[in-house]
Amino acid sequence: MEWWRNAVCYQIYSRSFADSDGDGVGDLRGIAAHLDHLEWLGVDAIWLTPTFPSPNADWGYDVADYYDVHPALGTMEDLDALVRAAGEHGIRVLLDLVPNHTSVAHPWFVDARSARDAAHRDWYVWADPGPDGAPPNNWVSSFIGPAWTYDDATGQCYLHNFLPEQADLNFWNPDVRAEFERILRYWFDRGIAGFRIDVAHMIVKDRDLRDNPTATAEDSILDQLRGQVPLYNSNRPEVHDVHRSWRAIASSYEPDRMLVGETFVGEVREVATYYGDGDELSLAFNIPFLQTELDAGALAYQVEAAEALIPDGCCPVWTGSNHDVSRFPTRWANGDPARARCALLMLLSLRGSVFLYYGDEIGMTDTVIPEERLLDPVSKRFPGLINRDAARTPMAWSSAPGAGFTAAGVEPWLPFGDLQRANVADQREDHASMLHLTRDLIALRRELDDLRSGEYATHALHPGVWAWRRGERVLVALNLGDDPVTLEDVRGTIRIGTDRARDGEVVTRALELAQAEAVILILE
Ligand code: GLC
Ligand code: MG
Repeated sequence: MEWWRNAVCYQIYSRSFADSDGDGVGDLRGIAAHLDHLEWLGVDAIWLTPTFPSPNADWGYDVADYYDVHPALGTMEDLDALVRAAGEHGIRVLLDLVPNHTSVAHPWFVDARSARDAAHRDWYVWADPGPDGAPPNNWVSSFIGPAWTYDDATGQCYLHNFLPEQADLNFWNPDVRAEFERILRYWFDRGIAGFRIDVAHMIVKDRDLRDNPTATAEDSILDQLRGQVPLYNSNRPEVHDVHRSWRAIASSYEPDRMLVGETFVGEVREVATYYGDGDELSLAFNIPFLQTELDAGALAYQVEAAEALIPDGCCPVWTGSNHDVSRFPTRWANGDPARARCALLMLLSLRGSVFLYYGDEIGMTDTVIPEERLLDPVSKRFPGLINRDAARTPMAWSSAPGAGFTAAGVEPWLPFGDLQRANVADQREDHASMLHLTRDLIALRRELDDLRSGEYATHALHPGVWAWRRGERVLVALNLGDDPVTLEDVRGTIRIGTDRARDGEVVTRALELAQAEAVILILE
């Protein structure tokens, strides 16, 4: 059995988890020092956001060397030690692979831009500008603005689907493919359990660089903002060949290595294609679900679609927060702890694997960051509109000076949030806390086969209310509406409720749920 099926994984924003050396930046030794917390919580694996050397134009997503560790995070020895120690705690380590682009400081690109006949020239996507100096085609960057930058030295433009500091690799070149296979093997051989694959849906571009069609009112908000539908620079049919070859490598290891893709596509139908016939990505992040509001009908619709469309034998994956979006206790729950608890219970009770984001377990909300302290290039460019830094602030281990994140008096790289509102130390003492709820839900998944791997079936769906069965005997019920509700004909025992006072309650005829309340029940 592949270990990642129905697993609970935990995303660590590497710079913000724990700082061991007092420089205000989280690091690998800091992570190693908190493995007890992660084991206590019960997670199966951790995903570390990029750990590679990088000039940090996009905070690690601009890689300058795929075979080493960023000095701010530590050394190769630190990473090996972390993998070993995590293993002793029963936790696997996933790294974040960024194959779509490299930093312009990567030696491959430095060579590529040096001359038209440079050895690595064709590792990137170069094209002549139009006769009037216009870009080679109409593609725009995912971060808005032209996707091409003219390079004086050689008189051509290079493609960047993100920042100009992130040059897109050319996956039509077999040497690039071979290099990434080598990178995968290098890390798998070192004991890395798998990769989160950045921008997995975009790594192969249209060979002829055809213009994208203009967006219309029918298209997504994002496409309308960009003015075009990314038909030719994203989600191309040929990307699946690359994923298939990577999966073959991952599956050749024992235990099986995992590939979870950032498959940033608009429809669950498209997400589902990334599983192939069970021979492509192990898991494909479901962005449409992430972007759905915390509404019973809308979420049930997304879940039913995923259940229907993801191929048989493949495993859905659910997540509510990550380093690119607002945290779910803010985005979904608007700071209301009761709604955040419902969302957490939902994530951990659907069929499939779950990715929690560091801080989810204490209901950490977004941090308000003054404009002058923004560090993310995209947030700096669109202040007031996009704020990715709000979800990247240091983990709140305690309310003491330094937050248990760094030494007292050290200024963290991004400001602390409201430490009194939510921190690990206080919540450890409080059995009714979000932290204990998270731990108990994860433990219940391990205890009950039905909850961990049982089939999903919608049980009831009314405005505000969504209930589903897992396997034979588990019923999950969520009231996200504005009023209390009663579900008739329910008999069983509540195992975990968002109101912990209801744990163990026997329901003899009808299940009453207060506003913003959820329960997991064993049916009679
Ligand atoms: C992914 C990452 C994001 C990054 C972008 C470019 O979307 O999650 O943080 O900026 O790729 O690498
Ligand atoms: Mg540090």
